[in-house]
Amino acid sequence: MIPTNAPQIGQEEIEAVKKVLESGILTTGLGAGPKVKEFEESFAKFVVAKHAVAVNSGTAALHMALLAANVRQGDEVILPSFTFTATAEIVVLAGAKPIFIDINPQTYTLSPEAIEKAVTKKTKAVIPVDLYGLSAEMKIVREIADRHGLVVIEDAAQAHGAAYHGKPPGFYADFACWSFYASKNMTTGEGGMVTTNSEEYAEKLRCIRTHGEREKYTSVMLGHNYRMPEMEAAIGCVQLKKLPSFLEKRRRNAEILSKRLKNAQKLELPKEPRGFKHSWYLYTVRLKEAEASKRDKIVAKMRERGIGVGVYYNPPIHLMPFYRKFKRHKLIETEKASKQVFSLPVHPGVTTKQLKFIADTVLGLL
Ligand SMILES: Cc1ncc(COP(=O)(O)O)c(C=O)c1O
Repeated sequence: MIPTNAPQIGQEEIEAVKKVLESGILTTGLGAGPKVKEFEESFAKFVVAKHAVAVNSGTAALHMALLAANVRQGDEVILPSFTFTATAEIVVLAGAKPIFIDINPQTYTLSPEAIEKAVTKKTKAVIPVDLYGLSAEMKIVREIADRHGLVVIEDAAQAHGAAYHGKPPGFYADFACWSFYASKNMTTGEGGMVTTNSEEYAEKLRCIRTHGEREKYTSVMLGHNYRMPEMEAAIGCVQLKKLPSFLEKRRRNAEILSKRLKNAQKLELPKEPRGFKHSWYLYTVRLKEAEASKRDKIVAKMRERGIGVGVYYNPPIHLMPFYRKFKRHKLIETEKASKQVFSLPVHPGVTTKQLKFIADTVLGLL
């Protein structure tokens, strides 16, 4: 099976973990051991942020950002429904109400007009998601947020290496939240990071990460154990160095697929609008004007032939059993996209021969 995504781990990561294990420092009480600090510093540099706070998942990163932004019961948070569940989960965990809005069908990221329409007196924050690795329209999101006094928490879990008018994720946000889950463009197994340019937020984030403590056993606020272990940080340091070459390979693979699929009338290929740099976390195509059953048949046949096709995100969150209670109205573009999209493998381990096989198989099935 050619997997949709696959971690790219080499001898360097193994050596780095071995060194940590031999050092005896596996983690530290306040969550900022030497490897964690090194990873935070190099990641902050990579995304041109003043501060980076490493945690043990992307979900923890998002949850911590909401807590640091003081999102709580009675607040509303605007977000897309066309995303991974964690984006909504953390809003509910913080005690607030998720307000699901529709997407721009061209980019699959949240529609700025829909944000404007969803704002009420209770709105505290907005969570744009850089879906599939394409940045949300962050400058417009920032302008709307400023007009209404909202905090912007960018879900950049899929966007390592993406850019928007030359700026990395987080540039227009108060917080950017990253994931290093095994499928991501770079991985630590599980893991996450929050980046911010605010000293005040960074200080709060570090506190929340470790039981609300600045010093051991002196909690000054409510916190969690969201600390990243040293082994993960050591893997992260190596993976970050390799990230540019991973991104280059993903881009090349996406270009090969786009070239081979460009004449497929029934398919809409992923776009990289002018001014946007895709991270190519997922190469997502869309079966135009089709019902879900037709898409699902193609996906099943591709999987039978050994191609790990992914379907993200079906159902969208507002139609999931737990989240239906937050549904306000139909999200037309979200629901349509969820029935038509599927993602093809472009990770760095996919060979040119495999890409040809993937493209030929799609074309044959169409
Ligand atoms: C858009 C999005 N948000 C949040 C997350 C949560 O990250 P994690 O799995 O590291 O908790 C993920 C990844 O899985 C994601 O893709």
